[in-house]
Order: sequence, then C-alpha cells, then structure tokens
Amino acid sequence: MKAIYPGSFDPVTNGHINIIKRASEFFDEVVVAVMMNSKKHYLFSLEERKKLVEDSFEDNKRVKVDTFEGLLVDYMKKQNSRAIIKGLRTVTDYGYEAQMALTNKNLYKEAETFFIHSEEEYSFLSSSIVKEVYFNGGELSSYIPNHVEKALLERIKVMKDN
Ligand code: PNS
Repeated sequence: MKAIYPGSFDPVTNGHINIIKRASEFFDEVVVAVMMNSKKHYLFSLEERKKLVEDSFEDNKRVKVDTFEGLLVDYMKKQNSRAIIKGLRTVTDYGYEAQMALTNKNLYKEAETFFIHSEEEYSFLSSSIVKEVYFNGGELSSYIPNHVEKALLERIKVMKDN
C-alpha cells in the first residue's frame, strides 16, 4: 500500500526522517508530500524543501518525494492512495492532528490516518525549533542531517549579507 506523509518540511528534521523511515518499513511506498501554501512564508522554496527531503532518502527506494497544493485528500485521490502518515510527538499534537484526521475522513471517507509515535529523542523537535535555535546561534546539528545544516548556514549567511 502507498501512504502519503504530508508536511511543510521547512526544513526536514531528523524527527521527520525517523518517521518516514519507520513508515517505509510498513508501507510499500511512502510519498513525502511537500506542501505549497501561497499564504505561508517559508524559509526555503518549495523546490529547496523537496530537494532537502530527497537528499535524505537517496538510498531508500520505497520513499518518493513530491509537492502538492490545495487539499490533501485531492492529492491522495490523484496518487490513488488512502493512507496518511502523521507523526505524534506529545499529547499537545493530538488535538490538532485528530481534527485534521477527522476533516480528511469527512472529505474522503476511504482515507485513514496512521499515527506513528515519535521517538523520545525527537519529541521536542520541530522545523520551527530548529530555525529558532539556528538563527540565534545555537547548536542543533544532531537533530538535522549535515546537508540540511549546510543549507541553513548558507541561508543565514545570505540573509546577513543582505
Ligand atoms: O508540516 P505542517 O505545516 O504541520 O503540515 C501541515 C499539513 C501540510 C499536513 C496540513 O496543513 C495539510 O494537510 N494541508 C493541506 C490542506 C488540507 O487538506 N486541509 C484540510 C485538512 S485539515
């Protein structure tokens, strides 16, 4: 079965990577669907976010990376998939995730959301936390892959130069 793992991935973290890897052990194909929302301000462009995920899974044939805009359920229908993967970190994630799971089910009754619990070491981690710490000169290199750290450092440099 093909599953969709949607998100902003601005940028992808080791927490996301851990969920994707674990999902790929249960699903034949995991499509990481990088969301484009024109109302949202991202640090990295859509293509950059996609490439950073792709570079994290060069060796995993079960993981594909794509982009989408609009409703997740419409993208799922196009992909011929009924399964959504979501990571759950703490109980505070649950309220919002449950609301999204029910909305998606309401819009597309065949859709099922599969929650994978974060490993403890990633339970505080998010793309926003990574950016916050990096922009303030902190060290979080064990929570993002090297290529993402490099991209963040380059982005910070460009922003400082401008
Ligand atoms: O990484 P994020 O930003 O927390 O991911 C949120 C995402 C992309 C999973 C969510 O915003 C989403 O599914 N957006 C698509 C629009 C949609 O289908 N909305 C209805 C379900 S709430």
